[in-house]
Amino acid sequence: MSSNVLLEINQLQTHFETESGTVKAVNNVSFGIREGETVCIVGESGCGKSITALSLMQLIPENGKIEGGEVFFEGKNILKLNKKDLRRLRGNDISIIFQEPMTSLNPVFTIGEQMIEPLQEHLLLSKKDAYKKASELITMLGIPNAEKIISMYPHELSGGMLQRIMIAIAISCNPKLIIADEPTTALDVTIQAQILDLLRDIKKDLKTSILLITHDLGVVAEMADYVVVMYAGKVVEQGPVLKLFAEPKHPYTQGLLKAKPVIGERKDKLYTIAGQVPNLVGLKDSCYFADRCEHAMDICRSIQPNYTKTSKQHDVACWLYEEGAVYE
Ligand SMILES: Nc1ncnc2c1ncn2[C@@H]1O[C@H](COP(=O)(O)OP(=O)(O)OP(=O)(O)O)[C@@H](O)[C@H]1O
Ligand SMILES: [Mg+2]
Repeated sequence: MSSNVLLEINQLQTHFETESGTVKAVNNVSFGIREGETVCIVGESGCGKSITALSLMQLIPENGKIEGGEVFFEGKNILKLNKKDLRRLRGNDISIIFQEPMTSLNPVFTIGEQMIEPLQEHLLLSKKDAYKKASELITMLGIPNAEKIISMYPHELSGGMLQRIMIAIAISCNPKLIIADEPTTALDVTIQAQILDLLRDIKKDLKTSILLITHDLGVVAEMADYVVVMYAGKVVEQGPVLKLFAEPKHPYTQGLLKAKPVIGERKDKLYTIAGQVPNLVGLKDSCYFADRCEHAMDICRSIQPNYTKTSKQHDVACWLYEEGAVYE
């Protein structure tokens, strides 16, 4: 694998103004994605996974604002792009796939009409060539009868089929990065596996980098090279997938792993992490996980932990670990 960094997120902060106060949805988030690498963001609901991804593309809801940080894509800070360059970036270099394909596709246009639009705009293909390319993409993704599919409307296709179409649209302009936000959550298990296989093939064949958001550690284990664990808007741990699964450092990561069902290992009751993600308004200076943590000490409730490197590329924000100590 190439070690060139494709995307580098540095101290990203995204806030929402609400009636009850400022929601710190993305709170000084930093991580990178290398060329050809799949990075998974994992964490419970409301931890800031989607808003992190949307911030990269400047697609956050209207009451939100990127308050700080930098996002370098191929060395350029894309948070500073003008509208035109941003549009080009979204069409050519970075594609995004959402959980609900129905919300991304327009019900009044055929699949073909929606597929050829980006091809015409970004690859400057003629209408005829764009239709041809759309049909090839559909076939490439293992969907038979491309000609017929192209003339159909979104409601005539199943959820799994629509998600394939979304992936076809996402890869149609040869992006360097695909962001997929829970792309399989709405699908049943067999279709889920097929879509994940498809993403894996794309990564392998096209060398595309993937930022995959999921709350499912099974998906992480299958897909990720590198894992970013988010809790309450912050990255609490990040590292290479094998390292993180073999030696999870943060009590939150340990809890998530304990809560994951393991095939062949029957547990009477699945472990769950007691308590809930805190309200992201008015957080105090403390470790945000302290109230749910069985190891919490006094310091955890009064000072936020910094990042500690527990091995190369493996960082954890937890007072149980000290910089410079050896944990291997
Ligand atoms: N438009 C908004 N206004 C106010 N708060 C928002 C808005 N959108 C998101 N948030 C808050 O930002 C935080 C992060 O949300 P986000 O959607 O990124 O979570 P997530 O990790 O993707 O969760 P899920 O797994 O449920 O998709 C949450 O506390 C959420 O309530
Ligand atoms: Mg989300």
